[in-house]
Amino acid sequence: AAACPHAAVHREERPGGLVTWQISAFSEARAALGDSRFSKDPRRLGEALRAGGRSMFAEYGDNLLDNLLNSDPPDHTRLRRLVGKAFSPATIERLGPTTQRLADELVASMLPAGRADLLAQFAYPFAFGVIARVLGLPPDSYRIFQRWTESMTAPREQGTDRMVAARHLCEHVTELVRRSREWLASAPAETLLDELVSARDDGDRLSENELVATVLLLIIAGHETTVNLIGNGVHALLQHPGQLALLRDHPDLIDGAVEELLRFQPPISKTTLRVTTTDVEVAGTEIPAGSIVNVLVPAANRDQRQFPDADRLDITRPPSAHMSFGHGIHYCIGAPLARMEGRIAIGALLRGLPGLRLAEPAAEIPWRASNILRGLQRLPVRFDSAG
Ligand code: HEM
Repeated sequence: AAACPHAAVHREERPGGLVTWQISAFSEARAALGDSRFSKDPRRLGEALRAGGRSMFAEYGDNLLDNLLNSDPPDHTRLRRLVGKAFSPATIERLGPTTQRLADELVASMLPAGRADLLAQFAYPFAFGVIARVLGLPPDSYRIFQRWTESMTAPREQGTDRMVAARHLCEHVTELVRRSREWLASAPAETLLDELVSARDDGDRLSENELVATVLLLIIAGHETTVNLIGNGVHALLQHPGQLALLRDHPDLIDGAVEELLRFQPPISKTTLRVTTTDVEVAGTEIPAGSIVNVLVPAANRDQRQFPDADRLDITRPPSAHMSFGHGIHYCIGAPLARMEGRIAIGALLRGLPGLRLAEPAAEIPWRASNILRGLQRLPVRFDSAG
């Protein structure tokens, strides 16, 4: 069953010889992400990739990898504890009013024209504005980060650009961290960057390298994913007029709607790579030690055994964990922030843009080519302009 789409797990050999294993069933995916035999150790991954003729990590440089997503316990445990302190519910709560204001301002700026590209004019500036405020980055860093994430997640032929952009951003973030340390010494601002800089635990704290790598991870992990939550979510809702009307009439359904949109059209196509530390059996198939493993999030989220009538969008579906934030020790640390952003953004768009509808047939709106992220290239819409 080499490439059978219905198999829980299948082996794929890419041109050039790289072998990867794909897990597409929900319970097997959850089991793998909760199993320490599926490692995130960059050294192991580097070896497995090199064996397949790839060298993903060499091109990014070591200091980009010194973060919680690219580590196993005990390093991961320590980093997650330190970073987790900066993501307390109180911090997220504090961000609510400014996040709401940003969404309302962007909606108001689009309204007079009666048409917009919701990605360029709303989702990007909103998601970046939030992460910039969260971290305490200057607003003018928007363009450089956008170019950078675009080239980082672009298909591999543009490898040179990726290296240059990665080095550029790394220098920029190092500078921001240094400046933040200076601000801290004088007048501490209430930003997550400040909390990261000062987070300690029994005298332990993030090293300079870890701090830079963590800030980079937060920008990458927290920016385009949220853009896609908004873009994919609105795109799906606008194709389901019944669900859209239900949500307009019952704004209190927004929490369940965000969960269902995350399940139905996830912002990512897979979790980041794992490598097996030993031979592991998954659904009767043996995956050898040293294998690269992907969890296919959209497939797991449509697994009929987990979600009855899985291909139907239903914002009133009883709550049930989906795979869009991953599972296990690397479960998305930004999930509460992302959920808040999704609620506020989608709520503001539906409230503020009367008669919101797609400006082109849904099937003609192109998806972006990307290795991990899953989102549209643009989202052209129309609405009834004021006056
Ligand atoms: C981890 C998805 C928003 C920060 C993850 C993982 C997924 C994910 C699937 C696990 C990756 C793996 O196991 O390979 C998403 C989605 C988002 C989102 C779909 C938006 C809808 C955010 C935001 C932030 C963030 C807003 C922070 C500002 C992180 C971090 C990790 C992570 C730091 C690594 C956690 C660890 O390794 O322990 N995210 N994310 N994410 N996410 Fe998110």
